[in-house]
Amino acid sequence: MVVAGAVFDEAGRLLAARRTAPPELAGRWELPGGKVEPGERAEDALVRELREELGVAVRPLERLPGEWPLTADLVLRVWTAVILDGTPRPLQDHDLLCWVTPAEAPALGWVPADRPAVEALLAAVTPP
Ligand code: CDP
Repeated sequence: MVVAGAVFDEAGRLLAARRTAPPELAGRWELPGGKVEPGERAEDALVRELREELGVAVRPLERLPGEWPLTADLVLRVWTAVILDGTPRPLQDHDLLCWVTPAEAPALGWVPADRPAVEALLAAVTPP
């Protein structure tokens, strides 16, 4: 399983991270996260990945219902999360971060699995 974090700022903007690898995903945007290690809880993996990749301490809030296929044996699950400490910086896997409004988010060049996940996320958190 791959876990990713949906982090919003006080203005309601969503944190997106631009990947540097692998070549087919470089330059595309994702919700930051990564693979759950054997024996690791998903929420713990999310905390670990966001510390490694962004240098922040987060607390997972709730899992977004649903999961999105990545490969034959990997799925993506998303949790909303709040930053407890630190300012996110692209330390690993990414070369740029940006905060996007819900209106801007659909225009980003998301990695394939993240596009439907972000659509579901924004439908769940944005009032109609
Ligand atoms: O850092 P780690 O190797 O644990 O994971 P990663 O390379 O960040 O992500 C593992 C796989 O999940 C890669 O193929 C990513 O492209 C994919 N992924 C994704 O599609 N969407 C995300 N939000 C996070 C990861």
